[in-house]
Amino acid sequence: MIMPTFKKELPPLARFWLWLGRLLGKTLLILLVIGLLGWTIAAAWFAWQHRGPVSAQEQIPPGEAAMTQDIIQTAVRIVDQHREPTRYLRDAHAKAHGCVKAQVQVLPKLEQSLRQGVFSEPGKTWQALIRLSNGNAYPQFDSIRDARGMAIKLFEVPGKQLLGNRQDQHEQDFVMFSHPNFFVSNVAEYRQNVAAQADGKKVMAFFPKWDPRTWQVRHLFIALATLSAPPDSPTETTYFSVSPYKFGEANAKFRVVPDPERCPAYTLPKQNHDLPNFLRSALNQQLSTDRVPACFALQIQRQDANKYMPIEDTSIEWREQDAPFETVARITLPAQDFDTPALNLQCDNLSFNPWFGIEAHRPIGGINRLRKAVYEAVSDYRHARNAAQ
Ligand code: HEM
Repeated sequence: MIMPTFKKELPPLARFWLWLGRLLGKTLLILLVIGLLGWTIAAAWFAWQHRGPVSAQEQIPPGEAAMTQDIIQTAVRIVDQHREPTRYLRDAHAKAHGCVKAQVQVLPKLEQSLRQGVFSEPGKTWQALIRLSNGNAYPQFDSIRDARGMAIKLFEVPGKQLLGNRQDQHEQDFVMFSHPNFFVSNVAEYRQNVAAQADGKKVMAFFPKWDPRTWQVRHLFIALATLSAPPDSPTETTYFSVSPYKFGEANAKFRVVPDPERCPAYTLPKQNHDLPNFLRSALNQQLSTDRVPACFALQIQRQDANKYMPIEDTSIEWREQDAPFETVARITLPAQDFDTPALNLQCDNLSFNPWFGIEAHRPIGGINRLRKAVYEAVSDYRHARNAAQ
C-alpha cells in the first residue's frame, strides 16, 4: 500500500528564519575552521622560529651603546616626572615594602657542578639584605596590579668585583621580579617601548607603526601578565631573574621561591587590601609583631643550548621541561623590626644592581648590558639630587 505524503508549505517568515539559521551555522563553522587553521599555522610557525640550538655566547648587535645613552635620558626623565616633593625615587621599583636582614645558606650537600661563585662552599651562610618592592615608578597603592620586586645583597663576598670603581664593596646582588619573562626582547625594542610609555602611551607602545609586522602582540600579553594582582604578603610570591647570568662556566637564570615548610608553621592574619601599604603591614605582622621567620629557596636553571633557551631575548621564558630549577641555597628572613624611619631611609638610599658582584655571576645578554649603564646613571642621579636637597 502506498502511504500518502503530506508536504506542508511553511509560512514565509518561518522559511526565512530557517534559511538565516542555516546561513549563520555555516558561517560559524567556516570561521571556526579558519580560526583553527590559523592557530595551527601560527603555533607551528612560532615553534619553528623558537627552536634550538641557540648560542651559548653573547651576541652584541651594532648600535647598542648609542641606544643605551638614549635610554638613560628617558630613564632620568622618568625619575624627574615621578619625584616626590622631598625626594627623588628609583626609576623603577620606587616603593619598598621594607629592607629586611636575611641569611643565605648554601645547601650543606650540593652537587659539585652547582658549586659556583658564592655557592662554592656547601653549608656557608652569607649575611644579606633584601629589598622588597612594587615595580611601578610611582609609589602607588599595593592593590594595583603590578610586578613585585626582590633585590638581594650578600655582604663580605671575596674576589674581584665586576665594576672597576666598586672594588671596596665586596657584594653580590641578585635582582628579580615576580614574572619569568620580560615584555621586551632586546635593547632596541626597550628603547622604542619605554620612550612611548614615557610619552604617556601604554598599549600603543606595543604597536609602534601601522605595519602589522612591527606589532608586538605577544609582548603586550607578557606586559599584562607581569602586572598581576598582589600576593597576600611579599613572602608569598616567586621572584625570577628574568635575564641570564654566568654561573661559573655555564649560563643560568635564577629564581627565589617561598619555602614555608622549612620555617615554623604560620598563617598570616587576613590583611585589609584596601590599605595603601598592606604588603609592608603583612611583612611587619609576620617578622615583627608575630616574630615568625620567613623562608625561601634560591634556585638555578642552567642553559641547555640545544634547547630554545636564548641569551639575547628576555621575552623568552626558559621552559622547566627543557632545564629544571635546582636549589642551591636557603634564604631565611629572621624575626626582626625593620620598619623604622631610620632603616627605611637607609633602605631608600641603597642601590641594588645586577652588576654589583663577581665574575662567576656576570650578567649577560642585551638587557643586562643595558642595565649596567642605566642602573648606575639613575642611582647616581637620584643620590646626587637627594644629597643636594
Ligand atoms: C631583567 C629584567 C629586570 C628585572 C628583573 C628588574 C628588577 C628590578 C628591581 C627588583 C629593582 C629594584 C632594586 C632595588 O630594590 O633597589 C630595579 C630597579 C631598577 N631597574 Fe630594573 N629590572 C629589570 C630590567 C630593567 C631594565 C631593562 C631597566 C632599564 C634599562 C631597568 C632599570 C631599573 C632602574 C633604573 C632601577 C632603579 C635603580 C636605582 O635607582 O638604584 N630595569 N629593577
